Amino acid sequence: MAEPSTQRSDPGTRRHRLFAWLDGRLPLSAARDAAMHKTIPVHRYSVIYYFGGMTLFFFLIQVGTGILLMLYYRPGAGEAFESVERLMTTVPFGWLIRSIHSWSANLMVFFAFVHLATVYFAKAYRSPRELTWVTGCFLFFLTLAFGFSGYLLPWNQLAFFATKVGTEIAAVVPVVGDWTVRFLRGGDRVSGATLSRFFGWHVAILPALTVMVLLFHLLLVQLQGMSVPPGRTEEAKRRPPMRFFPHYAMRDSFGWLLALAVLAALAALFPWELGEKADPFAPAYADIRPEWYFMFMFQTLKLVPGGSVLGLEYEAIPILLFGAVGLVLVLVPFLDRGVERRGRSPVFTGVGIAALVYAVALTAWGYHSWVPVWVTLGTGAFIALFAYVIRRGAEEEAAP
Ligand code: HEM
Repeated sequence: MAEPSTQRSDPGTRRHRLFAWLDGRLPLSAARDAAMHKTIPVHRYSVIYYFGGMTLFFFLIQVGTGILLMLYYRPGAGEAFESVERLMTTVPFGWLIRSIHSWSANLMVFFAFVHLATVYFAKAYRSPRELTWVTGCFLFFLTLAFGFSGYLLPWNQLAFFATKVGTEIAAVVPVVGDWTVRFLRGGDRVSGATLSRFFGWHVAILPALTVMVLLFHLLLVQLQGMSVPPGRTEEAKRRPPMRFFPHYAMRDSFGWLLALAVLAALAALFPWELGEKADPFAPAYADIRPEWYFMFMFQTLKLVPGGSVLGLEYEAIPILLFGAVGLVLVLVPFLDRGVERRGRSPVFTGVGIAALVYAVALTAWGYHSWVPVWVTLGTGAFIALFAYVIRRGAEEEAAP
């Protein structure tokens, strides 16, 4: 007689029943089995498998904090700055949420760069992962668009003039230049109309596009599993693979926890500044700067002398070249045939290294600082250290 009541109060049984109920309606067992059987290759460069997840972590933080910010933010030249100021001074923890959103935005761009660079050098774009790469490129461009559109939203002096200069650049592109500038600004000048437009992009269009592309990107990764870089195939065959659950998932969660701690410390110790309200009639700053991830392009344009050739302004040449580089980046899996045929493509590796050195050198030049060089070298050292720790951990787990 007592048995039914014991069963009712046993949380384990209740959980089991709930799982069985949901499992009858959703493919939960199939998902659990897939997670239990999924494995991750173990080799010298296994560390690269963690950077996509890290980018995803910062994206999720952006979504959460972005929704909170939207509760108080008001788009409009007359109230945007004031609403952010109120958020930072009177709303409990408003300053912290804004600071987390801003730091996390930068860290997301940083890890998207690291993820892109590591999958590029590991040649993870090889068949059959071409679409994973192409969707990844779109995610990268969307991430940059998030940064560009978000920068203007507080409507402060620096953002106003940086957006003015940033959107003006497009004007020199032949045929579509003027139209692009008006499309971006919602008129001829950077004004309240630009702000409403950037707000729409930032909180509706870009998130919707990103979520769709991201789900496809992640689906492809699940269907195809992780690639093994050329040259590490023998090593990956020799070493027992790591089980996704719990071993890889635990390591990923540890990385996310560490990222959360670093993010919280940065946001609390170095709160994001607001500056002064934008004044469209104020004289432009002498030292207008874009976000750090656009600096190498900005610095390149600064080096171009005035003038034109065959009706094409000199400035248009690097802009068109950057556009072409973006297109080539998307097409890399279809251009790099050597890696398919011979398992190696030193030309693509060399071009990748040259592009990285160029971007870092021009960023350092733009800031007149060695910090970008130290950050790049420090990131390389950090990745090497983590690669070693992860490999040692996997070796110890595999030991009898
Ligand atoms: C919002 C940005 C992005 C997110 C959240 C994201 C997320 C992920 C995740 C979670 C993985 C599986 C784990 C891993 O291999 O790291 C992955 C794999 C992959 N991603 Fe991304 N990614 C992003 C951007 C990119 C970019 C910019 C590229 C390159 C253009 C890219 C190309 C790839 C490739 C080729 C793989 C497969 C790696 C392999 O099989 O070894 N992703 N991505």
